[in-house]
Amino acid sequence: METPSITTDRLRLRPVTETDIDFVFKLFSRTETNLYSEDPDIKSLKEAKEMYVRYMKPGSDTHFRVIIELTSTTEPIGTIGFYNYITDYRRAEMGYDLLKEYWGQGYMSEAVQAIIKYGFEELGLVRIEATVDPENIRSIKVLERNGFKHEGTLRKRYYYSGKWRDELFYGLIKE
Ligand SMILES: CC(C)(COP(=O)(O)OP(=O)(O)OC[C@H]1O[C@@H](n2cnc3c(N)ncnc32)[C@H](O)[C@@H]1OP(=O)(O)O)[C@@H](O)C(=O)NCCC(=O)NCCS
Repeated sequence: METPSITTDRLRLRPVTETDIDFVFKLFSRTETNLYSEDPDIKSLKEAKEMYVRYMKPGSDTHFRVIIELTSTTEPIGTIGFYNYITDYRRAEMGYDLLKEYWGQGYMSEAVQAIIKYGFEELGLVRIEATVDPENIRSIKVLERNGFKHEGTLRKRYYYSGKWRDELFYGLIKE
């Protein structure tokens, strides 16, 4: 699938390149980014490069991930994208992460709105999904603030940070 470039009021969403690997390391080596993820903190630039190749490098049929950067400074502050894109059913899952120093300023909601619009209008999606840990209140607020509905709870779906974790399933329908 194509990796989009989108500009919003304060942000530019653009493809990830190899020159962003330092940023990928900065973001995903931090505990606060991965606190509610089954994936552990990455420990090296080598792991950041592997992550880039697996999840971010443009050219996949089933996912894309873009850098979120501030238009004012061109500084990268996060990533967002779709994965598990199924063409026949016109649905995909959305994922996102932001550096902690930029939380609480509406940046992720601004990026989410742009990605939702792109998903429905350009990709022709009918449904966008997201899953979230019940303790990840900030992410739940991002989803609900942007129209996603809680559709169910998958009990004890993951094990990490020492306990079994439920997973909340959220969905947004085009209309
Ligand atoms: C989840 C995550 C992206 C949420 O970030 P966030 O900054 O709280 O989300 P938003 O961009 O929607 O910002 C909303 C907050 O900004 C405030 N805000 C300030 N200026 C704003 C503006 N111009 N527009 C909108 N909101 C604004 C809102 O009032 C809200 O405040 P609140 O936190 O007190 O409710 C962030 O916590 C994160 O990256 N976590 C780690 C990774 C992660 O968990 N990813 C998701 C896995 S499911």
